Amino acid sequence: MGSIYQPAEDSYLMSRILKEQIPSLLEKNSNIKFLEIGAGSGINLETAFNCGIKKENIFSSDINKNSVNHCNLLGFNCIYSNLFENIKGKYNIIIFNPPYLPKDSREPNDSRLTTTAGKKGNEIIIRFLKEAKKHIEKEGKIFLITSSLSKDVDFGKLGYKAKEIGCEKLFFERLCIWELSV
Ligand SMILES: C[S@@+](CC[C@H](N)C(=O)[O-])C[C@H]1O[C@@H](n2cnc3c(N)ncnc32)[C@H](O)[C@@H]1O
Repeated sequence: MGSIYQPAEDSYLMSRILKEQIPSLLEKNSNIKFLEIGAGSGINLETAFNCGIKKENIFSSDINKNSVNHCNLLGFNCIYSNLFENIKGKYNIIIFNPPYLPKDSREPNDSRLTTTAGKKGNEIIIRFLKEAKKHIEKEGKIFLITSSLSKDVDFGKLGYKAKEIGCEKLFFERLCIWELSV
């Protein structure tokens, strides 16, 4: 089990977007079901809760059992799962701040699980998007982070409508959040 990913610029960007997006989604449906894949420290579970999503409607997972235990201790429903392997049901909002870095042999094994996706950096995102379709409600939304450091993903080819809704320029990369729907 590796160390828990500590909130960084990508986590805060996701938090900001959730604060912008969740209120209007709750106005349309006060009972929305929210799922975070790869919850890490639980920062975005807290954001979802603080924005008004009912705790019993907040679900999450991580491949790192330390994160799962930590989020359970915070009082959130969090299970061990490799992407959607152990996830059941459909959700109105699914979020993922994925590992997106291309493999670098200098990266310590401990942090690789939270940051590294594969040779191109987009491998986990592509697997996520292929599986997410079965778990998103009609008119549901996926909020996904991508980085300029990884190879672009052709969202259209994977069957998604995509809109860039927030970006942040860091000194070595550009992070963007995509709103995706089927
Ligand atoms: C960049 S961190 C984001 C953590 C947190 N959501 C945040 O925004 O601070 C990526 C998270 O995804 C988890 N993760 C990596 N691969 C995964 C997989 N295949 N299935 C589920 N979670 C995964 C990592 O353990 C890590 O907690």
